[in-house]
Amino acid sequence: MSVKKELYGKLENGQEVFEYTIENTHGVQVSIITYGATMNRIICPDKDGNMEDILAGFDSLEGHLTCPGYYCGQTVGQYANRICGGKFEVNGVAYQATQNENDKTCLHGGGEYSHAVWKAIIVDDDCVEFSYLSPDMQDGFPGNVETTVTYSLGDDNIIQIDYKAITDKDTIINMTNHAYFNLATTKRGNVLGHELTLNCDAYTPTDADSIPTGEIRSVEGTAFDFKTAKTIGQDIGAEDEQLVQCRGYDHNFCINGEIGKLRHFAHVYEPVTGRTLDGYTDLPGVQLYTGNFMIPEDIGKEGIPFDKHYAFCLETQYYPDTPNQKNFPQCKFKAGKGFISTTQYKVGVKK
Ligand code: BGC
Repeated sequence: MSVKKELYGKLENGQEVFEYTIENTHGVQVSIITYGATMNRIICPDKDGNMEDILAGFDSLEGHLTCPGYYCGQTVGQYANRICGGKFEVNGVAYQATQNENDKTCLHGGGEYSHAVWKAIIVDDDCVEFSYLSPDMQDGFPGNVETTVTYSLGDDNIIQIDYKAITDKDTIINMTNHAYFNLATTKRGNVLGHELTLNCDAYTPTDADSIPTGEIRSVEGTAFDFKTAKTIGQDIGAEDEQLVQCRGYDHNFCINGEIGKLRHFAHVYEPVTGRTLDGYTDLPGVQLYTGNFMIPEDIGKEGIPFDKHYAFCLETQYYPDTPNQKNFPQCKFKAGKGFISTTQYKVGVKK
């Protein structure tokens, strides 16, 4: 096991951004940059041993800076996903978060955590910790939130992300990582041929602004049923108002099993390369986003233009708009406490 630190780039103000690469004894690597505590690369073998980077993203810091709306691999906080009108209440006090989506919705906490430069320390030869202090009322969210996100990589090819965000005022916190996966790499086109299984019996349908209606709908007999493996593309074009409205999947799925316990929520298999991805989390939900808004004007790694469905995201999370949805599992944290959570992504191959 080893960790390597390199200069990755500089912001306009001269601030340096570093990249940390953890490598295990199989040559699997995960690289994280201090800008956004961003998971920037995962290099892993296909069924013939060819090492490739399975994260869609950018070759340089400039890519991240010029395409901030993608959140490619970035850590997201203080509230990942959407809050209706950016409005929420804590202890009866009304708060207004930044309305950065169509001047209406708060998306990904206004981008604060994702576009900040985090501090980093190498904890061990398999583990790097990133830290960031979110100031009280930044983007409208109460609490000074001391946040650490720790990435580790084992010889079992598990990338583990540990979140710890402790507040000094009662507040809401919901964090995720926004990695875009393409197990065949974007060189081979879109991800519609990837076979996906989700351990989710229900999902949360949304309105035209992608805000949950409050309904927890069974996936049974719908295009949202991934309980047994099917390709992402099989039903993506179905005449389902939820899919039409979002141009594909961009929905929160409710993960089966006990919240707070690490559960296996996803298995993905890519038949051309044989690569697999397994996801585990203790959180209530996962956003399946199928890159519906990726466009060829934006250039990804190796100069390959993005395009619709060129990657998929499995963003573990509390459900979107939870603070305004009383029947969803809640993510309010008292002063002195906070959001403590683990998500794992395991890479592999099936021969
Ligand atoms: C959202 C998408 C959005 C993407 C990039 C996802 O979490 O659900 O609607 O386009 O993030 O911001």
